[in-house]
Amino acid sequence: MRIVLVGPPGAGKGTQAAFLAKNLSIPHISTGDLFRANISQGTELGKQAKSYMDAGNLVPDEVTVGMAQDRMEQADAEHGFLLDGFPRNVAQAEALDAMLDREGMKLDAVLDLEVPEDEVVKRIAGRRICRNDSAHVFHVAYKQPKAEGVCDTCGGELYQREDDSEGTVRKRLEVYHTQTEPIIDYYKAQGLVATISALGQVDEVTERAMRALHGRG
Ligand code: AP5
Ligand code: ZN
Repeated sequence: MRIVLVGPPGAGKGTQAAFLAKNLSIPHISTGDLFRANISQGTELGKQAKSYMDAGNLVPDEVTVGMAQDRMEQADAEHGFLLDGFPRNVAQAEALDAMLDREGMKLDAVLDLEVPEDEVVKRIAGRRICRNDSAHVFHVAYKQPKAEGVCDTCGGELYQREDDSEGTVRKRLEVYHTQTEPIIDYYKAQGLVATISALGQVDEVTERAMRALHGRG
């Protein structure tokens, strides 16, 4: 199944993607995680991305599209994928369509996670992620690690993302509304969008998502 996950910062895309990818046996491809891995490894790509991310802006398409394409080729897109954080504007959505067209492939669904803004702010303020892998995600109230400040999965140190400060979150939300939300209409025109509420327990949201995806693959 080929799925795009869309929703505001802090909606729970990474959290849900981990479960959905496992349930559906497809790779989870997160452009945010790829950028953070490049930053922690000190690569040229990471250096290019960092200032944009810290300011809450999108990394330029020239950098992002190539990185996403490389990762999808590596993942063998033919057998499906779950994209999290890509595409993030209409130009990226068009680039993805062109990429898939060249391979004779199509998306099966765009899962749109809906969460009120005050909840998003609470989720982001309490989020802590692992130094070793930004896909290891916790929350000080909603998903506490067994030992404070330590990742349950790998024992790494937990910290707060640089772009999770209040001012940057406001900027990221504005960027979401102006640049990312238009892709929902773009995909609605293709009949691909399934919108679900991302409120409630993590496993309830996963169940809702699995139901919404049922029969689309
Ligand atoms: P990215 O990493 O994609 O960030 P984002 O879209 O802002 O999303 P987040 O990672 O903040 O949130 P999430 O929805 O994954 O929520 P999570 O599961 O962690 O991008 C970061 C930056 O990279 C961008 O600003 C941009 O600069 C750049 N970038 C990335 N992709 C790009 C692209 N395509 N083009 C250009 N630039 C790009 O959950 C949040 C918290 O809530 C966690 O603590 C979690 O434990 C908790 N939680 C989750 N679900 C629940 C629940 N049901 N109940 C209670 N708590 C919950
Ligand atoms: Zn970890």
